[in-house]
Amino acid sequence: MSDLRIGLVGTGGIGRTHIERVNTKLQGGKVVACADPAGAFGLSVAEKFGIKGYEDPIDMINDSKIDAIMCTTADPFHKKYVLASIKAGKYVFCEKPLAAKADECKEIVEAEIAAGKQMVQVGFMRRYDEGYKQLKAAVQSGKYGEALLLHCAHRNPAVPDDWDNSMAVENSMVHEIDVLRWLLGEDYATAQVVYGKSTNNGPKDLHDPQIMILTTKSGVRIDVESFVNNHKDYDIKCEIVCDGAVLNMPEPNYISVSAGAQKGRKQYTDCFQRFADAYDAEIQSWINATKEGRVDGPNAWDGYACQVAAAAASKARETQTVQPVVYDEKPELYK
Ligand SMILES: NC(=O)c1ccc[n+]([C@@H]2O[C@H](COP(=O)([O-])OP(=O)(O)OC[C@H]3O[C@@H](n4cnc5c(N)ncnc54)[C@H](O)[C@@H]3O)[C@@H](O)[C@H]2O)c1
Repeated sequence: MSDLRIGLVGTGGIGRTHIERVNTKLQGGKVVACADPAGAFGLSVAEKFGIKGYEDPIDMINDSKIDAIMCTTADPFHKKYVLASIKAGKYVFCEKPLAAKADECKEIVEAEIAAGKQMVQVGFMRRYDEGYKQLKAAVQSGKYGEALLLHCAHRNPAVPDDWDNSMAVENSMVHEIDVLRWLLGEDYATAQVVYGKSTNNGPKDLHDPQIMILTTKSGVRIDVESFVNNHKDYDIKCEIVCDGAVLNMPEPNYISVSAGAQKGRKQYTDCFQRFADAYDAEIQSWINATKEGRVDGPNAWDGYACQVAAAAASKARETQTVQPVVYDEKPELYK
């Protein structure tokens, strides 16, 4: 079968890395066109990559020469372009979060139900990371007893000055919300966010670090530290305390450096280094599944479920209470 002809909307940082990855590393598809809500900017990126540019992303989505869409715009535009893709009958990969709010995600779910099939994959790339895959397989094997507690951390060197308190849950820990739900194979029951003493190094409106505490429906308790101005490295941790063993995510496979009378392993400094292989595997899997006319990754319901839990955690943080996580009933299409 010939290459999937992909149109990408949202030519910011991650959009450009995805164009590069699809067109130089992956197989079975090519980004042949791009566009951006900030029209002229999308045209300049198209010129840089030597692909077709559209001033209006909707014209690209509706063009019969485009087979499938990647949506990598800022969050507030996701719903508009994902809905337009479904309406045009095109499979769409949408960066996380699926939409800014849970009720917008629900609109996307309803559009798929009306179309009679799943068409959306959400960009939760950690599900494709070897470390998380090994942890999931170990838990599922039953060899180590049931998972009881999880201790996780999401540490980042620095974030932009406009970050406020909401971003810790909604921009960094949403990854844990998705990947741990997938890893444990169950939904959440409650969410809470507590503060430690704050660093003075970060944005003035961000209390950093924060700890999110989730419980699952079966009672597994999860704590996730988000420390996004640690001025060191990009460090993701996941430790699972089981009923007969403790499982830890493998350390990143990076070189050891001897210098200045010290020896140590280099660390990653951002998600694009740390999860490079996971992004590749994620997008390759989307291309393969799209060509077969199916969705084979985090779907629109997962995107909705994630935003429901994130909204509960955000409310818990604002009110300093424990909040229930309450999902609508899962539709037949996603069972
Ligand atoms: N899966 C992941 O790990 C991951 C990582 C990063 C971002 N994301 C998601 O991807 C989406 C896009 O994030 P991003 O980091 O690419 O955002 P970004 O800020 O780089 O770009 C977002 C938008 O900003 C505008 N913009 C950016 N640079 C511009 C320029 N030079 N001139 C004019 N306009 C410009 C464009 O409209 C662009 O679409 C978000 O939904 C985000 O949550 C996911």
